[in-house]
Amino acid sequence: MATADQIKSLIRSHFSNETERFFTIALQVAAHEAKQGHPALAHDIRDIVDREHKKRGPKVLNFPQDLRGLVLTEDPQVSKTALVIQTSLQERIQQVIHEYRQQNKLKSFGLSHRRKILLIGPPGTGKTMTARVLAKELHLSLHTIQVDRLVTKFMGETSAKLRQIFNLMQQEHGVYLFDEFDAIGGERSMDNDVGEMRRVLNAFLQFIEQDTSDSLIVAATNNPKLLDQALFRRFDDVLYYDVPTSEERKCLIENVLGVFKASKFVWKAVLADSEGLSHAEIDQACRDAIKKAILSDTTKVNALSLLESLHNRQDARKGQRGDN
Ligand SMILES: Nc1ncnc2c1ncn2[C@@H]1O[C@H](COP(=O)(O)OP(=O)(O)O)[C@@H](O)[C@H]1O
Ligand SMILES: [Mg+2]
Repeated sequence: MATADQIKSLIRSHFSNETERFFTIALQVAAHEAKQGHPALAHDIRDIVDREHKKRGPKVLNFPQDLRGLVLTEDPQVSKTALVIQTSLQERIQQVIHEYRQQNKLKSFGLSHRRKILLIGPPGTGKTMTARVLAKELHLSLHTIQVDRLVTKFMGETSAKLRQIFNLMQQEHGVYLFDEFDAIGGERSMDNDVGEMRRVLNAFLQFIEQDTSDSLIVAATNNPKLLDQALFRRFDDVLYYDVPTSEERKCLIENVLGVFKASKFVWKAVLADSEGLSHAEIDQACRDAIKKAILSDTTKVNALSLLESLHNRQDARKGQRGDN
């Protein structure tokens, strides 16, 4: 059975019309039941919550007018199993999910769930995807803040806009992703636009430190060197992403090709020639190969056709770097 605290919280959130809170507690009850060895009940509760969520459709948000275009909102449906990352990263993401679901229990001991997370790694390795998975798992909307636009377009007003976004986090419970975060996170001592950038970064540091909302704050960057050391301390967790290992490449290719994978598939050359490519590039190469197969009416992708697509991706990458 649900704990006395959970029942009281459910009743309270029902009467104060806090629907999102009600959903969260219902999911905590499900987690509790699963732990007590009642998986069928846990599954049923999650099902009810999922169905209600879908019925309600996308929420109408009270975004201030001037944040429109700076914050993109979606309800992602990306499954956790599609994300191919090292086991240690998987465990840490699971920990964020677990603590979020058990936040009331932690709060009753004066502790807060880990909810300020910095993701660092090369492009196309799953940082944005992780934010989507977190939102899906926690039944929250994902609000992506377009940091580059926030900073360049409204240089003088950036701090004011940041304040509005942090206010929003209090009211609109969700996952907030600061993508391309280095646009604010740049070294405070760097000389370009020093005064303004320093003010913006200081404001951000202060906001993130003072923030006591229940929202998850995820910041993602390809460029950790640009980040000020002071920032790292403000996060509950810092996760490092990288291009996939051979084993991860195999898993990713299996996932993406799915039923299109030819039954006799020779891995050796595929794994060798995909080395150094990001998850996103390999994902695209697989999709290119699937499209080719469909259009030539074969519907199966063999190693040879995937190799060709992988080589095209390798060439595209060299072109980008300006190599020959
Ligand atoms: N770790 C991963 N596992 C599975 N697919 C991935 C992974 N990383 C990237 N992808 C694929 O590439 C796309 C772009 O990745 P994204 O998460 O936006 O990269 P990043 O934010 O790190 O630049 C994803 O939508 C997904 O299709
Ligand atoms: Mg990204």
